[in-house]
Amino acid sequence: ALPASVRLVEVGPRDGLQNEPEPISTEIKLELIERLADAGHTHIEAASFVSPKWVPQMADHSQVMRALMHEGKGRPDINYSALTPNLKGLEEALASGVQEVAVFGAASESFSQKNINCSIAESLERFAPVVERARAEGVRVRGYVSCVLGCPYEGEISPAMVAQVTRALDDMGCYEVSLGDTIGTGTPLKAKRMLEAVAREVPMERLAAHFHDTYGQALANLMAVLEEGVAVVDSSVAGLGGCPYAKGAAGNVATEDVVYLLKGLGIQCSVDLERIAAVGDWMTRTINRPNRSKAGVALSSR
Ligand code: HMG
Ligand code: MG
Repeated sequence: ALPASVRLVEVGPRDGLQNEPEPISTEIKLELIERLADAGHTHIEAASFVSPKWVPQMADHSQVMRALMHEGKGRPDINYSALTPNLKGLEEALASGVQEVAVFGAASESFSQKNINCSIAESLERFAPVVERARAEGVRVRGYVSCVLGCPYEGEISPAMVAQVTRALDDMGCYEVSLGDTIGTGTPLKAKRMLEAVAREVPMERLAAHFHDTYGQALANLMAVLEEGVAVVDSSVAGLGGCPYAKGAAGNVATEDVVYLLKGLGIQCSVDLERIAAVGDWMTRTINRPNRSKAGVALSSR
């Protein structure tokens, strides 16, 4: 059955911007984050404490996070989270005052190597102390599994592998694991079968859907997993984004489109459609990018 309400996780400031070739100023990032909060978001992934050599666009992670947590640019009722691939990233994140971090693994060996430079097993060994240290500081940890519906290097990924990695992150103490169709090759039946396999290992309440829209399937895939009971959805305003280690991957499913879908289904969510459409319009104009949200384009004056 469909959930009565869905919690959205806005990943635009992180997943949406991490692959942008032109530098985007910290001020613009902070303004985006503020506008996203104004539109009703309660959880905004704001930064990524990864190597600036690997992902230059996220190099101002500490400035962004400090501004939100210590310099009055954030709000106490909003969860601003950040990616932390290892202890070095976590220590910097803690120093900037974060309350929630995320570790990110994959269900594909080759993607794990390309993305975080280690095997799946090594990544899990690396995450364990990150989760432990974060939780000792009272910081919540989310988990990601990439390539749950396909890998840019290996093609098909077995649902059993996705379930195994998800289970490992859950056992480690992640409060929720987000299932990433990193390259957007999934289709609804595949998404449903993958989720069924994962939900046999980890309760549905602790799973989230993180779908990219490369092949235009993200909304259809979301519908399939909502019907299975998933109630947390990651999305990116204006469909911005793409992963630097997954060539050709488009942005996440657009927040505006998800809000429009949820509204039509009578599912509650905290984000206001008109307001989020205006944010997408503003941001795509500001960074001179096409607006990849169909609902956003329909609702804006362009
Ligand atoms: P590495 O090179 O294997 O790390 O990188 P290392 O421990 O061998 O260290 C090498 C150098 O990096 C050292 O510096 C470290 O200090 C430095 P040097 O001595 O050479 O000057 N270093 C760091 N610097 C800053 N922050 C750090 C850090 N760690 C080490 N945290 C690492 C390993 C994970 C850091 C690297 O591979 C990396 O940064 N990868 C980036 C991956 C990434 O950001 N990918 C995109 C996000 S994931 C995604 O988009 C998918 C998702 O959306 C879900 C989905 O769609 O499926 C989440
Ligand atoms: Mg992603």
